[in-house]
Amino acid sequence: MSKKLEWHLLALHPNELNFNEENLAEIKIGGRHLCIARFHERLFACAAKCPHAAAPLAGGYVNVQGDIVCPVHRYKFNLETGRNTTGEGYFLKTYPVEEREDGWYVGIERDNWFGF
Ligand code: FES
Repeated sequence: MSKKLEWHLLALHPNELNFNEENLAEIKIGGRHLCIARFHERLFACAAKCPHAAAPLAGGYVNVQGDIVCPVHRYKFNLETGRNTTGEGYFLKTYPVEEREDGWYVGIERDNWFGF
């Protein structure tokens, strides 16, 4: 069963997001803490905390391959798929981001305790 996404307005323009010098920002939206990355004129969203030991990913950087690199143990995760590209076996939760006429949106699964 596919999960229902709820789309939340992230920003009217990426410049509204408080990106650091590594083009990473941490925000709270839709009840989640997310890390937003700006890479090659696109925005990507993933969980704010590293799946290894919960380091804040916004303190890391994005390498040339488009992997976010954790600031603590340097594990790498593909921003599009969440795949742990350095092979430690973790998985980073990623969220779809869409550019629409009226802004940038992030899709977050609806919490549903009953599974429908
Ligand atoms: S906390 Fe991120 S790699 Fe260990």
